[in-house]
Amino acid sequence: MLGRALPGPEKFIWPVFLREGKGIDEPLRALPGQARMSADVLVKKLDPLVADGLGGVLLFGVVDESLKDAYGTAAYDSGGVVQQALPIIKYAHPHLTVFTDVCLCAYTDHGHCGPLDKAGQVDNDAALELLQKIAVSHAQAGADGVAPSAMMDGQVQAVRSALDHAGAHNTLLMSYSTKFASSMYGPFREAEQSAPSHGDRQGYQAAYSDLNTALRESVLDEAEGADILMVKPALFYLDVIQRLREKTELPLAAYNVSGEYAMLIAAAERGDGDLRAMVRESIAAIQRAGADIIISYWANRYREMFGA
Ligand code: PBG
Ligand code: ZN
Repeated sequence: MLGRALPGPEKFIWPVFLREGKGIDEPLRALPGQARMSADVLVKKLDPLVADGLGGVLLFGVVDESLKDAYGTAAYDSGGVVQQALPIIKYAHPHLTVFTDVCLCAYTDHGHCGPLDKAGQVDNDAALELLQKIAVSHAQAGADGVAPSAMMDGQVQAVRSALDHAGAHNTLLMSYSTKFASSMYGPFREAEQSAPSHGDRQGYQAAYSDLNTALRESVLDEAEGADILMVKPALFYLDVIQRLREKTELPLAAYNVSGEYAMLIAAAERGDGDLRAMVRESIAAIQRAGADIIISYWANRYREMFGA
């Protein structure tokens, strides 16, 4: 018997944008159906989703411009937005797997994923130290897993060793092992207010023209101690998902990114396709390519899109 054509809700991880405070629920223009939320609002929205069997969430912190600085200090503050939210979410939903994004771009005033050196380039090694601090602070606040997304060289090994040092041996490490410099992250950058103020991320994200380098880097992440590998984006990279599936025994996640979500909504709004049918077909494709875990903004709309 072949597997199910469509993945069950337990295969989905819902990416969410977290704000500090209470009662905050700001809809996002670029991501209809998604919002920036405070932890109390998120916990309530999770009630029916957890009851339906949602696999997990991936938390992205959003802070006011006034909290941003050159080093992204707010990202590793023990009283920061993600660190404060974790115990609230885990208390309300103890069996939900909670991952956190580990990066600096939403916390630096220049919007890059690491601090800059004197020449204005991202300083890889300085970034590693900060990523370690972020990951440990998330683990200590109760994260089940961390997902370093800065794409710095050596980030998996640096984060794994910092977690182990802090006694967080069981904290899962989901590596954005193959993250392409993509044009499909636009709506997310608006949601996160994390667009780089100058330059782009091509220096640290993979080039889509070079499949072999991308696959090699993924396999390196496995050797560095990743527990889960990830391909991102998903729909334009189904070949990469399939190729990586053949190269690793680790669970493989695919990140169905913001632009992929917004694209289908836009087509449906123009009357050019049935949203539910397009969503189902695209998610079936991601599963068919070999993804075990699907990180997707459709996760909180599971019933609407995949229900009977
Ligand atoms: C940045 C980050 C990005 C996404 C997840 N983490 C944007 C980027 O790399 O510019 C994109 C996710 C999405 O588009 O849904 N660390
Ligand atoms: Zn980043």
